[in-house]
Amino acid sequence: MTGSRQRDLLTREAAHLAPGASEEAAVGERVFTSGVGTVLTDADGNRYLDFAAGTLTQSLGHCHPEVVAALTEQARRLWNVHDFATADRAELCELLAALLPAELDTYAYFSTGAEVVEAALRAVAAVAPPGRNRLGALRYGFHGKTQGARLLVHWDIGYQSLAGNSVLGYSPYCYRCPLELTYPSCGVRCADLVRKHIADKPNISALVFEPVLGAAGVIVPPPGYWERIGAACRANGVLLVADEVLTGGGRTGTFLASEQLGIEPDLVTLAKGMASGFPFAVLAGRREVLRHPEIDRAGSTASTFASNPLGIAAALATLTVLRRDQLLTQVRVLGDVLAARLATLHDRHPMLGDVRGLGLLWGLEFVRDRTTRTPAPELARAVYRRALDLGLRTALGGNILRLAPPFTLDAAELDQGLDLLDQALTETAEVTR
Ligand SMILES: Cc1ncc(COP(=O)(O)O)c(C=O)c1O
Repeated sequence: MTGSRQRDLLTREAAHLAPGASEEAAVGERVFTSGVGTVLTDADGNRYLDFAAGTLTQSLGHCHPEVVAALTEQARRLWNVHDFATADRAELCELLAALLPAELDTYAYFSTGAEVVEAALRAVAAVAPPGRNRLGALRYGFHGKTQGARLLVHWDIGYQSLAGNSVLGYSPYCYRCPLELTYPSCGVRCADLVRKHIADKPNISALVFEPVLGAAGVIVPPPGYWERIGAACRANGVLLVADEVLTGGGRTGTFLASEQLGIEPDLVTLAKGMASGFPFAVLAGRREVLRHPEIDRAGSTASTFASNPLGIAAALATLTVLRRDQLLTQVRVLGDVLAARLATLHDRHPMLGDVRGLGLLWGLEFVRDRTTRTPAPELARAVYRRALDLGLRTALGGNILRLAPPFTLDAAELDQGLDLLDQALTETAEVTR
């Protein structure tokens, strides 16, 4: 429950704070004061299992001791020297080279997801042959709120997107197939239509996409989708820019989701899972793209906070633990348990129209009834709020709840969180009947 301390704080800030917070913060009405591992505590002393991992940032849970130590140590030494080299930066480059597919061997560092998407778009514009002035993107994609990222955004963030110069292909949203087909008899027609777009329009420089569409509700492509589109891009000289801001860093069970979906990107953007919640982002690319003479100009990858030593230290500590503790294996093992438990919840709760995901990234789509599939944001909100009151934090957006717990949670916490979710679903069904 939101107790009196939290209420007081929320009332005080409401006098000055601009509106426009995320739906989950606005509906959740909580003031968190600390986090350790999977557990968050609020200002009234209530505890929560955090199945949203911050904002899908806390792959190692909250305040992992090794990340805290690395940041504290760095904070004592050096905070900002523009983008000069630091000892940690060389090590981070080598660690990324070990974690990423071999051909993605060149890196630039930034602060946020939208900033690194912008950097990727600048790189594309720099290397694109003359006349290739359009970008391909996918419906339901989300890439951030800066102007360049919004060129690609088709997902409604409440006001007009700037999708003027982008070509929007069908995303693999099987549950609401825009072609009203069913997998596998559809033959993955959505991919064929994207392929056609790419082949028919000679002026597309790059396809920018989320391998699994995260913000729109964890839309997982069926087998064959990316293989076909990737081949069409290669054949037509269209660069593949995988926006793995959300999926990158192991969330789906491989370091990049691209690796298990048959995508061989030219550029990849990474942010959320990189530095345990410290603002830090990576642009990774093939050397022939990121070392192109048009990009190799003074300042093209520099900015005030790009490459800042604190972010580098947090990323180095985070990724060192991820690798040493073999957390990708842990994601796959716990992901299988989560998948099985969610399948049972889907069987038992008719308000769950669809449950889908990969690794430790899952989306629950709420509907009024399973025949019409009418979206039920009011049910998603009610379950979200009830789960919070019971001590489980999930991520809310429209009629979708996302589950994305830290990779470090143990089997007992996973079980307990799913029991709380089950209870929230049952109680919501009772009061809305
Ligand atoms: C796939 C993807 N790209 C880009 C962004 C934008 O990142 P940021 O909010 O750090 O600007 C997000 C944010 O959720 C995202 O999910």
